[in-house]
Amino acid sequence: MQIIIYTNAQQVAESAALWVKELIKKKPAPVLGLATGNTPISLYKQLVEQHKSNSLSFKNVTTFNLDEYHHIDSTNPQSYRSFMNKNLFNHVDIDVNNTFLPSCAAGENPRVQGLAYEEKIKQQGGIDLQILGIGANGHIGFNEPTSSLSSRTRIKTLTQQTISDNSRLFKPDEKQPTMAMTMGIATIMDARYVLLMATGANKANAVKEMITGGVSAMCPASALQMHENAIILLDKAAASELSDQSYYQWADNENRKLIEDYGYFHNY
Ligand code: F6R
Repeated sequence: MQIIIYTNAQQVAESAALWVKELIKKKPAPVLGLATGNTPISLYKQLVEQHKSNSLSFKNVTTFNLDEYHHIDSTNPQSYRSFMNKNLFNHVDIDVNNTFLPSCAAGENPRVQGLAYEEKIKQQGGIDLQILGIGANGHIGFNEPTSSLSSRTRIKTLTQQTISDNSRLFKPDEKQPTMAMTMGIATIMDARYVLLMATGANKANAVKEMITGGVSAMCPASALQMHENAIILLDKAAASELSDQSYYQWADNENRKLIEDYGYFHNY
């Protein structure tokens, strides 16, 4: 794991944007894995700015989102499709036909939809860079604690903690879904690079479990300990429960020197 600690959330977003930009510039047909939630909104703002001011083009980019609520219409403002349109897709030159979410509308079979999503990712040559957030309970995507570390795209029942964490996003008259389709942990682990962003003190315990706890289905993000190319971008608050912060900071400085000498090693 490459753990990088920044002073604030804005720096986390700027750093994540550099990773995405590098991928887009480097690969003719990049495949980007995307997340929703509060954390990546500032990353998407950065990307939209880059598109507008520096002509960063998304024309050849294909995207796969981590998750989508079950039985939600894509036009519903609470759908993750709407979230992506609002925060990214509507503001850049991406072809919406190349943007995918693991949706499962009414009348569709979640098992069939899950398999089809896995197949679609394979057809596109796999995900180059997967953006991740982390739940306060250690979830990635909607892989809640107890999710199999070998899981694939499927339907999951959300935990009470996740439902209550996300309730802030729903108006009193809106029905909050309790089930979602999510990429599995094995699907996420197949990405060539994974970039997890965590900001705020409410993530500090989950971050500590992910990095220093044992690999366990009780903290799905801990599976990233087994990923060859996992980059963890933290702000100070999210890193606050890590005891080895000075080592991570020193290792990051040493790594920057290597980059100056040899350039990036990323092999997309
Ligand atoms: C959403 C997703 C979730 C979120 C996590 C953190 O697509 O995959 O795992 O990343 O729930 O959400 P925020 O960023 O709102 O704290």
